[in-house]
Amino acid sequence: MSVAPPRSRGADFRRSAGLRFASHRLLPLDGDDVAVLADRSTGWCVLTRTDYDAMALHLADGAKTLETTENPAAVIALWEAGLLLADGRPHPGTKRVRKPWPDALLLKLTGACNFDCTYCYDYEPKRFKARLPQERIEELISFLLARQDGLALIFHGGEPLLRFEAIEQTVEFALREAGDDKRVSFSVQTNGSLLTDEIVDFLLRHDFSIGISLDGLTEETNRLRAVRRGRTALGVVHDLLDRYPDLLLTRCGVLAVVSRTSAPGIPDLALWLQEQGIQGFSISFLDLTGRGVDLHEERLEPEEAVEIYRRMIDLVRDGSLGELCFKSLTGRVQNMFTFQPRDLCHKGPCGAGSEFMVVDAYGKLRSCDCIYHPFFELKATEGGVVPHNHVEPARLGIVERHAALRDGSSECGTCSLFGLCGGTCVAKAIAHHGTPQSVDPIECAISKYLYPELLQEFAAGGEMPLFAYYQRHRNVPPELAPEMMPS
Ligand SMILES: C[S@@+](CC[C@H](N)C(=O)[O-])C[C@H]1O[C@@H](n2cnc3c(N)ncnc32)[C@H](O)[C@@H]1O
Ligand code: SF4
Ligand code: SF4
Ligand code: SF4
Repeated sequence: MSVAPPRSRGADFRRSAGLRFASHRLLPLDGDDVAVLADRSTGWCVLTRTDYDAMALHLADGAKTLETTENPAAVIALWEAGLLLADGRPHPGTKRVRKPWPDALLLKLTGACNFDCTYCYDYEPKRFKARLPQERIEELISFLLARQDGLALIFHGGEPLLRFEAIEQTVEFALREAGDDKRVSFSVQTNGSLLTDEIVDFLLRHDFSIGISLDGLTEETNRLRAVRRGRTALGVVHDLLDRYPDLLLTRCGVLAVVSRTSAPGIPDLALWLQEQGIQGFSISFLDLTGRGVDLHEERLEPEEAVEIYRRMIDLVRDGSLGELCFKSLTGRVQNMFTFQPRDLCHKGPCGAGSEFMVVDAYGKLRSCDCIYHPFFELKATEGGVVPHNHVEPARLGIVERHAALRDGSSECGTCSLFGLCGGTCVAKAIAHHGTPQSVDPIECAISKYLYPELLQEFAAGGEMPLFAYYQRHRNVPPELAPEMMPS
């Protein structure tokens, strides 16, 4: 017996006389089942131990073809999951293709903000005054659109709506540059407090996806999202629901930072968002960086972070969480169904290795903005305006870190989940350990909880509530869940 995730059939390998296993790792599941997981792609397959052992023996001694195997179904499943090589080559669909140019550009329009969050990774007194020049924005958009079919523009900050005019000008410019034959999409990550009738109308007209930050349902759980004056973060979201229900229910996802203060209220926040009809919800665990560098007592232990996921998964399993897309879960499940994951973060090497680019409030280029660290600075040499991904040292640094973790002597070097996990977010790893050659302990613990849980559910068959939940949400545009935008 063998089971495998549904994949495209891909190239024909039937004539190959040299089938052998690709590099993989094993995860024992309940009973006699074992998950076979590729370590150079997100491919996986569940076999019985007996079938796996027989296959390993069969493939070990010399040239093998599909015809000579006693278990053609398992061979096909393994091939489609990138777990077999035919004449030394894997299924072409399982080979990672790194894009030469980034196609997601995050614009840090300003370093300023009208909020005063005590954890803000983005706050720095000098940067507070910086404003990204319009000419720089347009130079980058022209350069990137001239080299590919489309571009996703993400407006960020600081608080991006402090510079609404720059957003208007940029959208107009990008649409003009794209013309009829290229695609541009727009999203914005905001605290929501500056939305007005005029801005909402504009965002709806241009099909914006909007991420709004909110950490909980009470003032206490939003304590770290401090404001200088006026409405609180919670007050803002209540007002928005009253004034702009269309926008909130069709275009917005909510992003919550999980700290010791907000953690207990996260499941209730999810249920409340669902009740309101909001479509997307993501969580991000507090990083001790920027203004939040000393908030040690607010950072959860890895087991506590896992407990949040456990509670969210219980809500999915008992049917309480259905309509709301909890992107922090579905993004990881999606990882198991594609060899080229769309999500920038839930894969290895992550988006900072190629397709994601940030231009900061000074106009400098970075591979990610999740923390401000020299590791992420792009040098803009060979490519002119934007450095070519294949020669840029900061891009190669992400790819090399990934390979070093996979092949190294740390736990990732033997962990069966490496192909799916990718060794966690490098920015979070640096924020926690000060070096990229490390992993973020919270994300590591979540991978170790979640992926075995999912693989076990798949192997057991039956109703498969987590996969059914994923299936229900697979068409929700990732932009509706702002985790897609590295914060
Ligand atoms: C820096 S803000 C910029 C956009 C906008 N001002 C906002 O608050 O949505 C982007 C996101 O990063 C989150 N964030 C800020 N500091 C963080 C930290 N230290 N750890 C994790 N997330 C953080 C914020 O809560 C917000 O959801
Ligand atoms: S997290 Fe966003 S809203 Fe809060 S201070 Fe930072 S930039 Fe402003
Ligand atoms: S947030 Fe982390 S995982 Fe996502 S692109 Fe940035 S460095 Fe990579
Ligand atoms: S970070 Fe943790 S879960 Fe991920 S591959 Fe490494 S050891 Fe495994």
